[in-house]
Amino acid sequence: MSAQSASETTRHIPILLEPITDFLAEGIRLLPEHSEPGVILDCTLGGGGHSARLLEKLASIPGARNHRLIGVDRDLDAISRNRSRFQKELEDGVMELHHCAFSESMKIIGNRPLYGVLADLGISSDQIDSETRGFSFRFDAPLDMRMNQSRGIPLTEWLEGVSETDLADVIWRYGEERFSRKIARRIVDLRSRGQMPKTTADLADAIRSVFPPGMRHQGIHPATRTFQALRIEINEELKELETLILKGFPKTAPGGRIAILSFHSLEDRLVKEEFRKRNLYELPFKKPLQAGDSEIELNSRSRSAKLRLAIRKPSEPETPSSMR
Ligand SMILES: C[S@@+](CC[C@H](N)C(=O)[O-])C[C@H]1O[C@@H](n2cnc3c(N)ncnc32)[C@H](O)[C@@H]1O
Repeated sequence: MSAQSASETTRHIPILLEPITDFLAEGIRLLPEHSEPGVILDCTLGGGGHSARLLEKLASIPGARNHRLIGVDRDLDAISRNRSRFQKELEDGVMELHHCAFSESMKIIGNRPLYGVLADLGISSDQIDSETRGFSFRFDAPLDMRMNQSRGIPLTEWLEGVSETDLADVIWRYGEERFSRKIARRIVDLRSRGQMPKTTADLADAIRSVFPPGMRHQGIHPATRTFQALRIEINEELKELETLILKGFPKTAPGGRIAILSFHSLEDRLVKEEFRKRNLYELPFKKPLQAGDSEIELNSRSRSAKLRLAIRKPSEPETPSSMR
């Protein structure tokens, strides 16, 4: 079941790899003997790092071959890359891949018991390091930012139609950018003069220009928070997570395990509240797990990651109506 190395094909370094895959594999190990064949869902396949390690761990668990790992990603590049990475696993039937948003993955699972869910939210290094997708201002690219380029509208089109107030709200809410109003005003002003930014470099320059001169070249690039906010909006990332929480989490079988790795306080809050408010889950840790210093040193992206884990409780035995 071991996956072939894909070091030449993905640049993404999986975060909190061992705790996440240990947790999910342990859920499979603890399933009662003769459990119905079921699935583990990797909602955010990305470079395939978590899935590959999980498959390695499942390979040493008796009976785990009865279950399938389903990998989902709405980025077609990620799916194509993983088709080669997991060629053998796909042929052996221990894995299946689907190009779709994870909010749509419930119909793929169908009636199969759901024994594990992993969502490693946000974007991958493969996406951010792409010179053409428009996620980063490190490369001058058209303003697209869609994870699935066959759905929705690219950022340029969205910027053409958005009101100044809505733009400022998005930049504030998802980017916590204190110059959100000024940035929105600047972009809308450029638009009204027919000078709308068309590329990542144009947009980054427009954002930088509203910052006080002393802050334009200090610390992180002034456009970082705005780019994050626009990406979250264009990909409806919060809505996706809400759907997963609402439709996916309750679909887990008793003993099923959920691992959510988030990078934004709004995402972490949604997950935390859901796990706490319902009496459906056992929470092995009260606080989110975070990367240690050595992981952060190797992979700076892990600094802001928060991992929340939950185990679906056994369902309550039905109370016969005569005893109610
Ligand atoms: C942080 S990366 C995942 C990395 C992966 N765990 C690994 O080990 O390589 C996030 C991936 O999830 C995908 N993604 C984000 N939101 C998604 C959604 N709502 N539905 C499907 N895929 C999504 C992105 O396209 C990206 O490839």
